[in-house]
Amino acid sequence: MQKLSAQPATQSTLSRQPFLSALPILSALQWRYAVHRFSDEQLPANDVEALIEATRLSASAYGLQPYRVLQVDTREIRERLLPHAKGQDKIVYCSHLLVLAAETEPGDHTVARYMSLLAAARALTSDVRTGITRHMQSVLAGMTPAERAHWAREQVFIALGTLLAAAAGMHIDSCPMTGFDAAGVDQVLGLNAQGLSATALCALGRRHPEDDTALHAKVRLPTDAFVQVV
Ligand SMILES: Cc1cc2nc3c(=O)[nH]c(=O)nc-3n(C[C@H](O)[C@H](O)[C@H](O)COP(=O)(O)O)c2cc1C
Repeated sequence: MQKLSAQPATQSTLSRQPFLSALPILSALQWRYAVHRFSDEQLPANDVEALIEATRLSASAYGLQPYRVLQVDTREIRERLLPHAKGQDKIVYCSHLLVLAAETEPGDHTVARYMSLLAAARALTSDVRTGITRHMQSVLAGMTPAERAHWAREQVFIALGTLLAAAAGMHIDSCPMTGFDAAGVDQVLGLNAQGLSATALCALGRRHPEDDTALHAKVRLPTDAFVQVV
């Protein structure tokens, strides 16, 4: 198998050999790390499209996808985001910057959008469609506005995880970030007017050869502390 890792292998906590089919994803997850410094290399546009497609295919509660992805290619906009990113200049000096923005007021319109997609994709009777709509609407209506906004943000983090895993699988470097001032990012990108708020940033690119973070061993809970088999 191709050796992906520039990092020292961390002590394996697996008590048994994983199935061969698990090795590529485990190796990719060992290889990835939150990059501190990116090189100047630009990722091919179709790789970035593939990562956005992976993010679009992420699981979300009921499939409602209460979020959007913004690809910020304009250097001047990235520089305007920088004062709101707690000095994390990798948002400017990376190949591609994605902003994952959650719906601020998910509700009936979120369900209606999903239902129109569902109706186009699957042949369902109107009774079934009505039942699904009512169920989803009542779940969201049972939350306070703050809980609904929190719920939407939770879905963003699932999408972020999908994005990070997909990037690792494609041998593309990344850095997820929540260290930023959402109000400032929202203002620069005009997100509030779209009913959105920046929830996570993800820088993409290639690790700089002098990014020493690549050499840091992974720090993770040992498996026996992490998992309980009951
Ligand atoms: C939700 C989330 C937010 C994060 N925010 C930042 C951030 O603002 N800046 C940063 O450099 N790293 C950030 N990280 C990276 C974590 O610090 C990193 O994933 C963690 O230390 C584990 O290390 P590894 O990913 O390199 O294995 C974030 C990670 C996650 C999942």
